[in-house]
Amino acid sequence: MPRLHITGGQRLAGTVKISGAKNSAVAVIPAALLTAAPVRIENLPDIHDIRVLVDILHFLGVKAVWENATTLLIDASTVAKTQAPYELVKKLRASYYFMGALLGRLGCADVPVPGGCDLGPRPIDQHIKGLVSLGAKVEVEHGLIGVRAKKLIGARIYLDVVSVGATINIMLAAVRAEGRTVIENAAKEPEIVDVANFLNAMGAKIRGAGTDVIRITGVKELGPANHCVIPDRIEAGTYMIAAAATGGDVTLLDVIPKHLDPIIAKLREMGIAVEVGDDKLRVIGNTTPLAVDIKTFPYPGFPTDMQSLAMVLLTQAQGSSVITENVFEGRFKHVDELKRMGARIKVEGRTAIVDGRTQLSGAPVKATDLRAGAAFIIAGLIAEGETVISEIYHIYRGYEHICEKLTALGAKIKEIP
Ligand code: UD1
Repeated sequence: MPRLHITGGQRLAGTVKISGAKNSAVAVIPAALLTAAPVRIENLPDIHDIRVLVDILHFLGVKAVWENATTLLIDASTVAKTQAPYELVKKLRASYYFMGALLGRLGCADVPVPGGCDLGPRPIDQHIKGLVSLGAKVEVEHGLIGVRAKKLIGARIYLDVVSVGATINIMLAAVRAEGRTVIENAAKEPEIVDVANFLNAMGAKIRGAGTDVIRITGVKELGPANHCVIPDRIEAGTYMIAAAATGGDVTLLDVIPKHLDPIIAKLREMGIAVEVGDDKLRVIGNTTPLAVDIKTFPYPGFPTDMQSLAMVLLTQAQGSSVITENVFEGRFKHVDELKRMGARIKVEGRTAIVDGRTQLSGAPVKATDLRAGAAFIIAGLIAEGETVISEIYHIYRGYEHICEKLTALGAKIKEIP
């Protein structure tokens, strides 16, 4: 397995272009199954998760052809199967979107229980509750979720927990249901708005995406569409933290600054300068950031996906910081690896206390999940000496050309076989 080798101590400077949002793209691709008409999707990130989704489309009998590295043409008129293969589905969480999309298009789907990052228990009861409310029968047997409906009928669905995946999955099925669906306590992430915009471009009638009440009037058929995926706010946040942690000066291009508000606010609270433009922003690091407390929450709260990354930055702050993880109960698996690099962090339940002013030292570490892997890269950038990260397939699942982008900013990072 290849590993990443990082020599610490370099200050990042320059510009970096942010790619399309993974968490939007992984829903938009299955959503294309909802129409038999051709669909063109631009600004897809060139990452492993997307390649797996395209493999699943091919397996299902869908024509999907790359126009260039980031634009995909999909023709789902030929979809022939409704069972997604375990070997591919287990590689990513978002394969659960094939349930909603295949159900909406063909009235049935058999999807293995999805894989993805191990962040502790990740139930999909709210997805199932939503699909059942729309009239589907759901059976889970031998690791396969079977979803069937002769006819989908709009319903009022109140989510018990705010879930990105459940909100999108219900939207996917509801656009083709008869009548009106209302999703209450819906998630408000920008990726949900992006998927709704794509579905509306295909002729769906979705109102209220981005608020906690989404109203959908079902339509009989969806048509062709062209869609450009929004920028990845978590990739952007990663480079912002990398700039801040290395005391660097980095300008991010192609971002939607509004989506980054919770991250910008936290960095400014730490005394780090962030200059905001229309579609770019500049982060100017500071060698003595202030300690802050962070609580993760659904959007527009501080993103759980940024928690491990922020933790690395806080090891450099003046004083102790408290991080409370409110979204995923098992999302502190990176702490033990960071401790091996010298970080002083104490975890109690959902809370981590991070001591600042710690000189990290390079060490061999294992990427425990996608975002933790990126956090270890930043830890390696500020550590004394050499860091070698193994199990980097996690990182490649979600970060486009991360070595090239960091190298262009002055990092010493290379893949070793
Ligand atoms: C998505 C993102 C992931 C991000 C997370 C939270 C994708 C592909 N992944 O994951 O990067 O970290 O949102 O912003 O978009 N829950 C239930 N029952 C359900 C569904 C969720 O109890 O049926 C719980 C989860 O265990 C978790 C919380 O709700 O505690 C939020 O999860 P959810 O928003 O669904 O996360 P994902 O869609 O899996």
